[in-house]
This record gives sequence, structure tokens and C-alpha cells, in this order.
Amino acid sequence: MCGIVGYIGENQAAPILLEGLSKLEYRGYDSAGIAIFNNNEIKVAKAKGRLAVLSEKTDNGKTVQGTMGIGHTRWATHGEPSDVNSHPHISMSGRFAVVHNGIIENYISLKKKLIDKGFEFISETDTEVIAHLFEYYYTGDILDTMVKVINRVEGSYALGVLCSDYPDSFIAVRKSSPLIVGLGDKENFIASDVTAILKHTRDIYYLEDNEVVVLKKDSVKIYNTDKEEVQKEKFTVDWDVSAAEKGGYEHFMMKEIEEQPTAIRDTISPRIKDGKIVLDDISLTTEDIKNINKIYIVACGSAYHVGVVGKYVIEKLCRIPVEVQVASEFRYCDPIINKNDLVIVISQSGETADTLAALKEAKNHGARILSIVNVVGSAIANASDDVIYTWAGPEIAVATTKAYSTQLTVIYLIAAYMAEKLGMFTSGEYARFIEELVSLPDKVSDILKSKEEVQYLASKFFNCHSIFFIGRNLDYAVSLEGSLKLKEISYIHSEAYAAGELKHGTISLIEDGTLVVALATGQELFDKTVSNVKEVKARGAVVMGVTTDTHDNMDDVADYVVKIPSVHEALLPSLSVIPLQLFGYYVASLKGCDIDKPRNLAKSVTVE
Ligand code: G6P
Repeated sequence: MCGIVGYIGENQAAPILLEGLSKLEYRGYDSAGIAIFNNNEIKVAKAKGRLAVLSEKTDNGKTVQGTMGIGHTRWATHGEPSDVNSHPHISMSGRFAVVHNGIIENYISLKKKLIDKGFEFISETDTEVIAHLFEYYYTGDILDTMVKVINRVEGSYALGVLCSDYPDSFIAVRKSSPLIVGLGDKENFIASDVTAILKHTRDIYYLEDNEVVVLKKDSVKIYNTDKEEVQKEKFTVDWDVSAAEKGGYEHFMMKEIEEQPTAIRDTISPRIKDGKIVLDDISLTTEDIKNINKIYIVACGSAYHVGVVGKYVIEKLCRIPVEVQVASEFRYCDPIINKNDLVIVISQSGETADTLAALKEAKNHGARILSIVNVVGSAIANASDDVIYTWAGPEIAVATTKAYSTQLTVIYLIAAYMAEKLGMFTSGEYARFIEELVSLPDKVSDILKSKEEVQYLASKFFNCHSIFFIGRNLDYAVSLEGSLKLKEISYIHSEAYAAGELKHGTISLIEDGTLVVALATGQELFDKTVSNVKEVKARGAVVMGVTTDTHDNMDDVADYVVKIPSVHEALLPSLSVIPLQLFGYYVASLKGCDIDKPRNLAKSVTVE
């Protein structure tokens, strides 16, 4: 969702802001704007639509001169996408310009108060109140004013603020919305995430909630809400610029699909030592694990689908009951949890609003929080008792692939780690599990080598109007992800069903030519799913089966079969998901869809 970049230095700010914003496009947006300070005044340029419109309007930033500025990509929440609703918003006198990511929950009462005091609003946004509040509370001291403003607003915010009285500094703050500080040589930055400034610096500060940062060309000072300076540890990002570039691929999504073997390896390798899983990252003791009463897994979107896999795997290996819930439901369901429950929170971005709120809800009930997060220093990571990072690197395509795969990997690590501590493995089983886990990257590479096979199938089905994905247990969990992948980028209606449930209603939708993708990878339930394949075939469906190279029977019943290598049953999702990701990608590509930035979707959903 909304993206922020800010710059102060010796170079022209506008081109740097536009370039930085282009790196944040993946977050999803529908308008963009910049504010540049020059000659004691602030100049603003904004435009509805893609960043290219703003670039054209400003001649790639050349028409707005100045070496300090803030920029924003807006994903509309309060008020339609339009020039006037775009950020930056300006206070009535023109003294302040504000960019904001998040939601000001009490903006209606603040707006009313400000209108009563004579302020005039021109936009429908919640953000405009911030610009006017700055004016209202202005004491001549920008830090003091910032503290007053954030004490009045409720909700989530990352803010970047220019004040025309301050020709050589600007100010920013964050609470529950992401904002990092980039440290350069005679230049400094703020940004919603590292990718926006990676070209200029890899040295950053992660801000905690309500830390206020004052940036000058050659200094960065961070303060708490008592206006006391806070010392922060500098963090050096080890990604290089190419990690966030397309590198010759047509789409980030394909690049990220191809990066999966490396991402999985990077996530597993540091955590396996001398044939054992070592989770130095977490403080959960054997005693703690033995005392776990129940596990909840809470997440949104694909991360939720990882949770569904997690339920099957953890219950199977550890025999601890697991409940999986989408975060937007969990946060309001008055969950029955207590200190003996472990809540596993999964999030690529670490900033999904519902997931963060669900985490806080669980924490309020005294539960222990273990999060699986890709973005270091993100809000969810900061709010958790323990964090296991997925080392997927930056994921740019809205439709997740490598983050999903690394999250699966962490789930396996957690499940096997706990099972071993609980004495659920024989020593032979544990060693075999680890051996199989370590074999995953090579097996994923093998599947990717024959991706043209899936491309061919996509060419046969890209005109379908509706597609069903079926499977049982873990195959069902992966069906959910396969179906989501397809629909989010190709706009084809698709549903995932537990194969045995189909006959309780949905089978009535099957008619001549309907494509059913049937996953039957596990040994135990293979025959059961084959029976379901026969049921849909009998009603006219065309079936694409996904199974392992040990199951020849699928060839007898399905019209097309995609084979994956065999692996420990619990790990099969890591392999079966690959052809489904490829299928979604190729279908969307053949339909000419905007694969990396599908309509209406945002990578990072920072609003409820
Ligand atoms: C959005 C993305 C999905 C993602 C979900 C959860 O909907 O488009 O790909 O799975 O958010 O995001 P998170 O960052 O919490 O994993």
C-alpha cells in the first residue's frame, strides 16, 4: 500500500524520489506526488495514475528543483484516487507538506475541531488533518510540534513532513506503519522499505513506534516522545541492488519463482548444524515446548495457506492441536487463548494490519508469540517474543512465491524441532527428515527445469472461465495456494476444495470441459483423491493431475499429469506448489495480464 520516500542531500531530490517511488510500486498504488523545498517555499506536484504520469508532468523531476523533498505513492482508502486526494498534503499557509502511510482513525473528530477553528479542507483524505494539525500546533519548533501532533492522532502512521521554516532539515515518524532511515554520505533518506534507497545506501536505522527522526544532509537524530535523543544501532543490509531488479526476466514473479531453490537453501542451511535443527533465533525451551497446550497459526492470504500446511505438519509430527485462522477473523473472535498457548504469526512484509492486530490480541491474552517474517525490523517482528526470519530476500511481485516457499520451510523446521524435543521421532526418522528437508532446493530446481511442460498446459487452458483445485489434507492446503495464485494474477475465477467435500454442492458446477486441477501427492490418500477425479471426469471435467513420480495410476485417470519428485510426505507442499505457481504465471502471461501488479491488489496491506 502507500509508499514513502524522503531525501535530503546535495543532489536534486525529485529524480531520486521518483526513482525510489518506482521501487515501491509493487506495494500497490493509484496516484503519486512529491513535495520539494526550494527558495523558502514548498512546491508540490501530484498526479492520479501510474508514476509515469507524474514523471511526465514534472519532466522526470526537472521542473521541481531542490535538494530536499518527500514523495508518496497512494493506495486510496479515504476518497477516490484523484490529484487532489494524492499526497503530499499541504497546510493552509503552505508551511507544511505531509506524506502519510496508514490510517488516522480519529480523523473525523479532528477534522471537525479544525474546521471549527477555521481550517479549510480540500481533500477527502484522513491525512489532510495532519497537515492542518501541524499548522495548528506549530510552536516554531518542528520536533515539539511533531510530538504534539502524534499525541493527538490515533491509528497507524508513517509520516514525512517538510516545513518551509526549516531549509536544511525535515522530520519523520512511524507507528505501526513501516519507515526506515537510510544513511548516506552527505545525504540521508527515509523510505517505506529498503528497496527504495538500496541504490544509494545499505546502512539503515529501523525505527521503533513513535520514534521521531530529524534528518539533515550530514546528520540524523532520533528522539522519543519526550524529545530525548535515542541512540540507535546501525544495520547494514546485505542484499545487493540486483536483488531488487528484474535481472533480465520479463516479470519479477518469474524471477522470484526461479529464486526459490536459493531462498529455501538460505533459510534452511544456517539452521542445521551437525545433523540437528538449531533454532538459535528463538528462546523457546524444551520445557516451554512440553507445556504448549495448543498452537494457533494466524496470517493473511498466502501466509494463511502456509498456516494450513502447518496445521497438518505440526499435528502429525508433534501431536499438538493446531488451529489456523485468518487474522481478520481471529482479531475479532474473542479467541480462547492463554499463556500456555503458542501463537505462530506468519507474514512476509511483517506489516499486514490485520495480522499485526491479531498478534496484539493474542498478546493481550498472555499467549507467547513466535513470528515467521521476511522483513527484518518490521512491526510484526518487533512485537513478537521470538522471530524466525525467512531469508527470501526482497519479494517484489504482488503474488508471493519465494516468501511462501521459505515460510513453508520455517514451518517444517519448527515442527521437526519441536517433535524432536518432545521425543516424537526415532533417531532414524529425525535424520531422514533432515536429509529430505535439505534435498528440497535441488528438487525444486528439477521441477523448474521442465517448466515448459506447465507452459504448454497453460496454453491449453488460458481461456477457461472457471477452474477448480482439489486435494486432501496437505494437497488441499496447496490447492488453496494454487487457486489463489491463479485468480489473483489471471483474473480467472477459481476455487479450491477439499476433494471429498466437492460432492456436497460444488460438483454441480462441473460441466463439459471444466478444468479440475487434482493434487494427489501423498501415499495414504492417493486412491481417495483418484476416486474424486473419477467423479468429476464422469461429469465432463478435464483433469490435470499433480502427483509424484511414484504414482503411475494418475496417468490412467487424468487427461494431463504433472509429475514432481518424491520426498518425505510432510514436505510435499514445497514441491507440489511449484507447478501451480508456474501455471498461474503462464496463464496470466498468455492473457496479457499485469502479472507483477495485478489490479486492485497491494503487496503490503497496511489497512484493515
Ligand atoms: C497481500 C499479498 C499476499 C500476501 C498477504 C499477506 O494480500 O498480496 O501475497 O500473502 O497480503 O501478506 P504478508 O506480508 O502478511 O505475508
